[in-house]
Amino acid sequence: MLIIRIVYLFHVLVTEVLFFMVYLTRRERFNSAHRLFSPELSEEENYKLYGKCANPNWHGHNYELFVTVKGEVNKKTGVIVNLKDLSHIVNEHIIEKLDHKNLNVEVDFLTDKIVSTENIIIEIWKVLEPEVAKVNAKLHKLKLIETENNFAEYYGED
Ligand code: NI
Repeated sequence: MLIIRIVYLFHVLVTEVLFFMVYLTRRERFNSAHRLFSPELSEEENYKLYGKCANPNWHGHNYELFVTVKGEVNKKTGVIVNLKDLSHIVNEHIIEKLDHKNLNVEVDFLTDKIVSTENIIIEIWKVLEPEVAKVNAKLHKLKLIETENNFAEYYGED
């Protein structure tokens, strides 16, 4: 009888008390123009570092953004966040500002930045983190794919 009681209590502990941490990812896409150029480097140094991406007449990329949130599975709904809410947040605050835009000159949160994949992902994080928190989820990771061979990942500051 004692064993049955212990098994029962363990069952209650697992199903009623413990929380299950899950990582949920939403993908969104945007197409943007940019130019990689550092005013602190000479034109020759810019071309050497950035290659074709230093072209002064711009070029475009088909970006893919993966937004991963971390949270406890809500027992009533079975989800950690409403994916529609998450998609809405990413679209309103990020995609609408970047899609079919010139990242160097048209995006408020990228002003004065070298629009490298690294810098773009950091600035996206700064915008998204407080918005994701509003729907009781925690931004865990961003992944930004610039080309099929180049992408960046960011987990925020520790
Ligand atoms: Ni480029």
